[in-house]
This record gives sequence, C-alpha cells and structure tokens, in this order.
Amino acid sequence: MASTYGAAQVLVASNRGPVSYAVGEDGSLNAKRGGGGLVSGLSAIGSDADALWVCSALSDGDREAVRRGVGEDGVRMLDIPADVHADAYNGIANSVLWFVHHMLYQTPLEPVFDAEFRRQWASYETYNRAFAEALAEEAAQGAAVVVQDYHLTLVPGMLRELRPDLRIGHFSHTPWAPPEYFRMLPDDVAGQVLRGMLGADRLGFLTQRWADAFAACAERFAGGSGHAGRGARAGADADFLRKRSHEPDVEERMAALREEIGEGRRTIVRVDRTELSKNIVRGLLAYRRLLETHAEWRERVVHVAFAYPSRQDLAVYRDYMAEVERLADEINAEYGTPGWTPVLLHLKDDFARSLAAYRLADVALVNPIRDGMNLVAKEVPVVSDAGCALVLSREAGAYEELGEDAITVNPYDVTATAVALHEALSMRPEERAERSKRLAAAATALPPAQWFVDQLEALRG
Ligand code: F6P
Repeated sequence: MASTYGAAQVLVASNRGPVSYAVGEDGSLNAKRGGGGLVSGLSAIGSDADALWVCSALSDGDREAVRRGVGEDGVRMLDIPADVHADAYNGIANSVLWFVHHMLYQTPLEPVFDAEFRRQWASYETYNRAFAEALAEEAAQGAAVVVQDYHLTLVPGMLRELRPDLRIGHFSHTPWAPPEYFRMLPDDVAGQVLRGMLGADRLGFLTQRWADAFAACAERFAGGSGHAGRGARAGADADFLRKRSHEPDVEERMAALREEIGEGRRTIVRVDRTELSKNIVRGLLAYRRLLETHAEWRERVVHVAFAYPSRQDLAVYRDYMAEVERLADEINAEYGTPGWTPVLLHLKDDFARSLAAYRLADVALVNPIRDGMNLVAKEVPVVSDAGCALVLSREAGAYEELGEDAITVNPYDVTATAVALHEALSMRPEERAERSKRLAAAATALPPAQWFVDQLEALRG
C-alpha cells in the first residue's frame, strides 16, 4: 500500500492524454492541446476538484517534456520506455485486443499466440503497472479514478491491491467481444484481462450490448460479472461543431471540394481513421456495385472518402490503407470520365476539410464491421447544410440511438449496402431533411461531457 497519499480527488488514466509536445527547430517544446469528450468532461468537473490526468508520453517531444520537467497543471505524463510502450500499444492493444473486440481476425493467418506475443504481453503488464503505481501515488484518500479503454485493462485490479480505499471505474470506448470470440485469447491472458477489469467498482460501456458481452465473458471465464453497465451515451458537441463548421477555413475547403465534385452532383461522404473495423474497402465495393447496377447515377454522384492515416507503425494498418487506395483508383479507372471522378479519396488528416464534407453531404456512409459508438454518424446530421441521409451499420454502437431514422445495413453485405446507397440517394429532399433533423436531435440529446460526469457520479454514489 502507498505510504503517503497524493492530492488528486479525481483521476483519469488513458494512453493518449490531452496534450502532446513537439520539439521545434530551435529546441523549444511546443504544446498542442487535444479536444474530445474527455477533455471537456474534465473541464466540467471544475478547477477546485484537484483533477489529474495520467497519460503516456507518446512522442519524442512528450518524452523530452517529461525529462525537462515541462508540463501542464493537471496532467502527468508517464515516460514509459519506448520499446515497452510499443509492445503494449502496438503489439497487444492495437493488434490483439483491438482485433478481438472488433472481431477482425482472419484465419488461416491470425491470431498466433507465440513467444513474441508472450514478450509483448509482459510489456503490457509493465505498462499497466506503471499507470497503477502513478495513480496510487497521486490519488488522495478515497479519490475517484476513471481508467479508460483496452490499453489499461489490468490497471483496476493492480490499483485495487495498492489502494483499496479508492473508488475505481473503467470505461471502454470499444465494443466487447462475445464469449465465443473472446475465448480465443490464451486462457491465462483472458483471465488476467477480466480479473483486472473486475478490480473496478464500476465498468462502463457505450451500449448495453457491449456491457452484456463483458458480463457474459466475466461469468464464463472469471466467475463474476462485476458492475458492468451502459454509460451515458456520448453525444455530438453541437455548439462546437456548428460554430467551427462555419469558420473561413471550412468555407474555403467547401469551395475547393465543390470544384472537385462538379456542378449538380450528389455526394456520398465518409470520414474515418483508416483502420480495419471501419470497413472502408466494403464501402468502396458497395459504391462500385451501385455504379454497376444503377447506371443512372454515373456522372451524377461522387463518393467523397476521407481515410486518414492511423496506427501506421503496424503493417496490417498500412496494408489496409494501400488496399483502400488501390480500390479507389480501380473504380476511378473503371468508371471515371474526363469531367467526372467517381471517388475523391483524401488521405491527409484535415479536420476543416472533414467539416466541409459534412456540410456538403447528401448521404453519409458509416458501415463499420463493429464500432463502440461512431461519432461521425452523429456529427454529419448536425452539420450537414441541407440534411443528409445516413447509411448506418447495425454493428455500430450508434445504431441503438440512430437506427430508426437511418437506413441500416449488415456491414458484410455489399449488395445490400449498394441498395441502401441507392435508397439514400433517391430519398425525397423533404424526407431527408426531416430524418436528418431527427438524427441530429438524437445525436445531441446529451451534452458531450455527460458520460464522464455520469461515470463519476456513479462511482461516488
Ligand atoms: O475509438 C475508440 C478508441 O478506443 C478511443 O477511445 C481512443 O481514443 C482510440 O480508440 C485509440 O486509438 P488511437 O491510439 O489510434 O488514437
């Protein structure tokens, strides 16, 4: 047990923190603050709450900041050795655990749990222990700690041993695998993950479906279901999005996009991190099928697809990105004409351009294989100028809230997705606007930070 207690009353632990640093050419450190639900959640707690965010140093700039003792109030970055972090983050979290919960493995090649996996698993344990020890050191007596995501599944159990006085929560932003899939993990590892999570007083998931899957795994493989429940659902930040999407840089990008799309054409928009669960390849196959079966849309529609780089340290993510590019080129070669490019694929992350696409969208395509929630499905209807039709996978968490006014699809069914795209493009403008309004209302029913505030209340309650 820690001999002295820290001062923080509310602690958040996550791999990625609210700030990152880059070393400038003159050696100075430049801080870049991130946005998102967690950041606004923490600001909602108020400044007198003695809140502390414990996160990992991710870049050379971050590590340099830790070494120089540069930092922000309320943030503690852990300088975990780069090779340990790489094993834990790339090897275990983004390869194994991400693939299990999103059910992405493909036989006969994967998964293979060999000596390399065991080495990476040991790093995952070390990485989780570093978080548990830092939290144990910083937390005041009886403080509330909310641990985030699949990177840190062992932390609740480890922290419970170090500090039995704390109120510990864990929140998953991903789906949770059903028992029949989860059991492919080595038995001891599956048990460690589940028992680690069960060390928490409360476990939060974005939908009841993911909470039930966790409870089923815990019952079958760890002899207890814990207090797993659905968290408040993450909402889209309507005020921020509406204001930001009318700023000059977005207007500029709209003009450029309009030029690229061409006069009078419909747009099908998708915006994703290029990551296998997003199912971008099947989305493109469905679009190709649409052009094949509905010749009337040729020259009259453009698929605006933004596929931003993600987790590029891993070959499987790089290969996926290459496949997306290859297929987009193939469709353009097959159907394109001198005045019409059927797929406008952009690979460079640009938030202002994403908002510009949201505003121009007639149809939003969100077809993940599995997704904890999916915020794009919530954001596009809020921002779209004329109202958009939403083609939505029934495997996205957002389906629970938006399913009624979306056109829903089985993400594996390319033929049905092509039919759904046709239906969305053919929807009468009045119906589209009506549905879009209801989608936007459902997406913004809760303030974006509410889920985090609710987590804390439930923990303290
Ligand atoms: O979208 C689910 C999620 O787990 C987020 O909570 C988290 O920020 C993200 O994925 C992690 O991915 P990355 O490390 O690539 O940012």
